[in-house]
Amino acid sequence: MLFDPRPKERREEIFDREGEIKALLNGMKNYPITLLIGIRRVGKSSLLRVALNECDAIGLYIDARKLYSISGSVSQAALVGEIRNILAGKGRVGVLRGISVERVSIAGVQLKPREATFIDLLDFLNSLGRKASKKVIIAFDEAQYLRFYGSRGGKELLAAIAYAYDSLEGLSFVFTGSEVGLLHDFLGLDDYSSPLYGRIYEEVEVKPFRRELSREFLRRGFDEVGMNVPGEEIEAAVEELDGIPGWLVEFGFHYWKKGSFEKALGMTMRKARAVIREELKELEKRSGRYLLILRAIAMGIASWSTIKEYVEAKAGPVTNARLSELLRNLEKMGWVIKKDGKYLIIDPVVEKVLREG
Ligand SMILES: Nc1ncnc2c1ncn2[C@@H]1O[C@H](COP(=O)(O)OP(=O)(O)O)[C@@H](O)[C@H]1O
Ligand SMILES: [Mg+2]
Repeated sequence: MLFDPRPKERREEIFDREGEIKALLNGMKNYPITLLIGIRRVGKSSLLRVALNECDAIGLYIDARKLYSISGSVSQAALVGEIRNILAGKGRVGVLRGISVERVSIAGVQLKPREATFIDLLDFLNSLGRKASKKVIIAFDEAQYLRFYGSRGGKELLAAIAYAYDSLEGLSFVFTGSEVGLLHDFLGLDDYSSPLYGRIYEEVEVKPFRRELSREFLRRGFDEVGMNVPGEEIEAAVEELDGIPGWLVEFGFHYWKKGSFEKALGMTMRKARAVIREELKELEKRSGRYLLILRAIAMGIASWSTIKEYVEAKAGPVTNARLSELLRNLEKMGWVIKKDGKYLIIDPVVEKVLREG
């Protein structure tokens, strides 16, 4: 059902996105590394789960944000523990179909019971795949959080992945990221100093729906739950929420449950506000100026120099270099986009929440 608010796991639950799923499956099959990028709530986790369920491989879905949220960093022990849990059948996605799973011995391949390192697990998974004559896909969702692995910005993890890339042919990796620039920086596929420099990879981008597709998404969703919703309401909802599937689903779900357009839109905005405020709080921890800059841009203060005036009026002097860095970071994190010298907030719902102060 389209209006089910959880991440989707099967193709039938997904609207459109045939091209993206195909590209993702192709990446998984033919490339050692695939990136799946797009702004928050656009549908990356859903597409990743669908592809993992469909591909003819052993797939492991690892949520890097979850690993990070346990302690504010990502330890090898947490990562190894998570992979062991998945192997023991506790993972959410049914990833190990057709293979008998026991705690430390799978398909006759032994994993060192204790003190296994991430590299040991990679070796183990590679042998496992070989035994089962299947590829093994290790998918890290919101992988930019892996920069908090270990004490060197995740370099140890990247070195392990570089080792797998070079020596373990049965493994491939998928990395998704909402903070696209941060993900690129972290992986460093184009950065000479990164362990992964120069490795070949495929990139699949998930974009918000275009207008017409957003309308159709809502129409189809309402059809599914047997509701006949007037065109003006569909139009007004798309106007407010744009083509971001996460918000469209939220709206459709509430309309279906409450039967009122105003209530549904109100509840969607309330939920959005709560979610976005949390995200902004996280951002503020990195620098208080981020929020000021975003507020300015949300109010239509769009050029570099007017943003600088605004920030300085509110919070005192900021150097040009620092302001440029902050703006660049906001672009990398997927909050803003620069078009013709003007900065814009990407998600119109975020823009609205920011304007409310
Ligand atoms: N193509 C789609 N069809 C139906 N629902 C979708 C689609 N894309 C995303 N969703 C829904 O939108 C919400 C956000 O999707 P999610 O996959 O969590 O996005 P992301 O991982 O990019 O933040 C979820 O509730 C999901 O069910
Ligand atoms: Mg996600």
